[in-house]
Amino acid sequence: MNSKIILTGDRPTGKLHIGHYVGSLKNRIECQNSGKYDIIFIMIANAQALTDNFKSPEKVCESVIEVAKDYLAIGLDPKKCTMFVQSEIPELTELTFYYMNLVTLERLKRNPTVKQELAQKNFGTGLPVGFLCYPISQCADITAFEANIVPVGEDQLPMLEQTREIVRSFNAIYGDTLIEPTALLPSKTCMRLPGLDGKSKMSKSLGNCIYLADTPEEIKTKVFSMYTDPEHVHVADAGKIEGNMVFTYLDVFCTQEHLKRFLPEYSNLEDLKNHYKRGGLGDVTIKNLLAKILIDIISPISQKRLTITNEQVLDVLKKGNIIARQKASETLKKVKHAMKLDMFNN
Ligand code: TRP
Repeated sequence: MNSKIILTGDRPTGKLHIGHYVGSLKNRIECQNSGKYDIIFIMIANAQALTDNFKSPEKVCESVIEVAKDYLAIGLDPKKCTMFVQSEIPELTELTFYYMNLVTLERLKRNPTVKQELAQKNFGTGLPVGFLCYPISQCADITAFEANIVPVGEDQLPMLEQTREIVRSFNAIYGDTLIEPTALLPSKTCMRLPGLDGKSKMSKSLGNCIYLADTPEEIKTKVFSMYTDPEHVHVADAGKIEGNMVFTYLDVFCTQEHLKRFLPEYSNLEDLKNHYKRGGLGDVTIKNLLAKILIDIISPISQKRLTITNEQVLDVLKKGNIIARQKASETLKKVKHAMKLDMFNN
């Protein structure tokens, strides 16, 4: 039977937040602890982060450490998964170069995630080629490790589609060499958590995040600044649930057990919503509930994070880099053999 190999990763552009947590990190922990997978690679994609942050190398460099700390704090275990840094694996760049032949400019420009990102950023002087090509480099990331399973948030589906196209095209031209991967999406309904302000996505650049490193006080302040229903002015007013970020978050994070512990007078979330809709339930009550839940989830992570040193992180990554590089170089050898680029090796 084929082994089950996972590869996934994040761009280091800041600390990770609860959007990452529900969108992908929780899923990774479950994968790691399920025992269902043979090998798990988790990559800090610093080279990819530079494609739209090439003028901020310090930020990307610092964020490598921050993200690795977040990984260890949420419970990713170096004994069970290989955490490594993209730029330490030069084989990925070489693979990217060969894959570039297999993708057209038109195809790259059609990628919906890239399109959305382009609309958000303003590359003043024009579109850098490196940014447009990152989906090709992502294909190198995935195929170099012969990953057949890629746990990601839904915004990464276009990258998986692009990867599959390159794999098929490569195998058709050069013979069966690369493995076609599938995405593994998170199970919970809310895969893309909106920001505190209700804007499309929780994102550092929009300043609407709760970080895994936030203290209980910070979490509380942020929750109390959240967008609810602007027409719900007095406690007695009838309130709206749709578009009310506090309820959007409660839908994602509030379990039956949380409700029992923090607001036992309601038997389920529906009861709470109905009360809010009828009127008589104030924003303070629902915000307090959400703050308590988020503190309950995040404080064990932020506490553990404080105990992790930079040396410890560097040590984990160095060991990971060695293992990852070994695997990527084996794949590169196969690729060069298939492409008849190995005439000087015997
Ligand atoms: N594009 C991903 C992100 O923005 C990061 C990433 C890079 C990745 N290479 C990958 C994810 C390979 C999965 C597989 O978060």
